[in-house]
Amino acid sequence: MTLPDFRRRKATKTNQERISFVTCYDCAFARLIAQTELDCILVGDSVAMVVHGHSSTLAADLAMMVFHTESVARGAGGKFIVADIPFLEHRKGQSEAVSAAQALLRAGAQAIKLEGAAGNLEIIQNLVEGGVPVMGHIGLTPQFIHAFGGFKVQGREDSAAEKILADAKALEAAGVFAIVIEGVPASLGKRITDALSIPTIGIGAGPDCDGQVLVLHDLLGFTEKPPKFARAFGQVAHASVAALGAYDEAVKSSTFPAAKESYS
Ligand code: KIV
Repeated sequence: MTLPDFRRRKATKTNQERISFVTCYDCAFARLIAQTELDCILVGDSVAMVVHGHSSTLAADLAMMVFHTESVARGAGGKFIVADIPFLEHRKGQSEAVSAAQALLRAGAQAIKLEGAAGNLEIIQNLVEGGVPVMGHIGLTPQFIHAFGGFKVQGREDSAAEKILADAKALEAAGVFAIVIEGVPASLGKRITDALSIPTIGIGAGPDCDGQVLVLHDLLGFTEKPPKFARAFGQVAHASVAALGAYDEAVKSSTFPAAKESYS
């Protein structure tokens, strides 16, 4: 994927041409993703929850995002990588926003993602003018967990839906190349998608977005209580527990290592 591909996929949208994104946080999984036809990787600040065990994404800082972006980039085999600007980093000022984007692109991302619209538009314009592809993120933006009072579906009331639609249009005008729409009614996901000439990437935003993104560990079956919008496409956690149990059993019963696993 390149930036022109995002525009082309929007212009020629068919079911086959929807854009597939998955989150990834390390080189080992990036190497697996590189073997698939998945279009893009998001090094999301969900890393703070999924990998580091925090209860929200607020714990991700720039150092964490750079560290994981570098790791993913080593294994991604040329896939398009978007990395998240962590909580409040860009709100420290234009200079900090530029430094954060610079660090993430130098770490191997091709684009950055920023949550929210209000107060971000000038920052986005400045980054885009400086050559940084920026992705927007609206709806249930996890960095706003305390402002929202929890992980709650957004845009159910008419006025809230209008505000999210207006945010999407403002982000498009500011120059973002695509927008993640998270946790909104499917009808609003469709309305926003129809209103924009850039691709929308949905997560809990219904089937009509131009693409979808899922958290890697949700789709692989690692998440005990996945959100309603997620689907486990495999049961890798079960397979992992079975492999770990088999190893434990083999060590305890002295069947590992065998002669072929030992040096003569
Ligand atoms: O951090 C993340 O994983 C995200 C996705 C949920 C869109 O922002």
